[in-house]
Amino acid sequence: MVAVAVLGLATGSSAQLQYGFYNGKCGANDVEAVVQSVVRARFARDAPIVAYLLRMQFHECAVNGCDGGLLIDGPGTEKTAVPNLSVKGYDLIADVKAELERQCPGVVSCSDIQILATRDAVALAGGQPYAVRTGRRDRRQSRASDVVLPAPESTAAQSVAFFGNLGLSPFDTVLLLGAHTVGVTHCSVIKNSRLYQYGGRAGVTDPALDPYYAFVYKTWVCPNTAASDNNIVFLDDQWSALRLDNNYYKLLQSNRGVLPADQNLYGDWSTRWIVDLLANSDLFPSIFPQALIKLGEVNVLTGAQGEIRKVCSNFN
Ligand code: HEM
Repeated sequence: MVAVAVLGLATGSSAQLQYGFYNGKCGANDVEAVVQSVVRARFARDAPIVAYLLRMQFHECAVNGCDGGLLIDGPGTEKTAVPNLSVKGYDLIADVKAELERQCPGVVSCSDIQILATRDAVALAGGQPYAVRTGRRDRRQSRASDVVLPAPESTAAQSVAFFGNLGLSPFDTVLLLGAHTVGVTHCSVIKNSRLYQYGGRAGVTDPALDPYYAFVYKTWVCPNTAASDNNIVFLDDQWSALRLDNNYYKLLQSNRGVLPADQNLYGDWSTRWIVDLLANSDLFPSIFPQALIKLGEVNVLTGAQGEIRKVCSNFN
């Protein structure tokens, strides 16, 4: 199993995914082109969609696999679990699904739409275009109690172990957290752990945070009042906030990572060399997709398993 994971070979259901699975299955329509055109139009007016979709792919695939479970509405579903309350982008998936249902009803799964849409947004944001295999099916189950995701305070070892359980390597882990090169967090996530109560001690700021950044956050972005909880903080600095570049890793090198889980990748010798490699080279935009592809094939349903939903937010 270890050798299989290292070599990245497909096992189980993921072995049944195929490039171009939908070719010829949607009349004369090109399914991947339909997805791409909807994503492109959205990206043109709402570039943060790339952040929404990346985070969605993570929260989707890391919980029971890439099975569309996150998309289901209703009490007690994955969507209602606390870490998912700030996930966005469901409307884009619904738009793509509605368009595909018009063209060929009951053919394209919601879980494939998530993977294809993320792929297209990543390329629009500066990532290297990449091919993905399709043929996923949607699970007829979605439970909030299954949602276990890493805490923002995760150590590097905890992050590596989390992704290790999904069959991904330490290198993949550092690559995947590079998704934080786009998007934001909220002050509430970092106020205690980094700014005002480091180590549970009142008034203490995380010594691993660059003092100038700490000053800026404490003074302007996240002042120590409840009113600032919903203020946003760019995970990468705001000038490259929506570019899929390696600036995130450069920030870690200068103690400017935002989440503890980000900065911890640089604080731990076992992952620091990967951060350095990605910060000091142009590799990231071209190899990030390889980790996303692996994440996108975790524990998929194929063949006769699950269903093809008519509406992504409801079971058939
Ligand atoms: C140890 C692993 C991870 C932790 C602890 C973590 C934690 C977080 C937290 C706390 C936020 C901010 C949420 C908010 O304030 O609304 C966030 C945002 C984000 N995460 Fe992660 N994350 C991890 C891994 C990943 C992975 C693997 C991806 C995708 C491949 C990802 C993509 C994103 C994106 C794009 C955002 C910004 C979302 C937006 O702007 O709306 N994260 N993450």
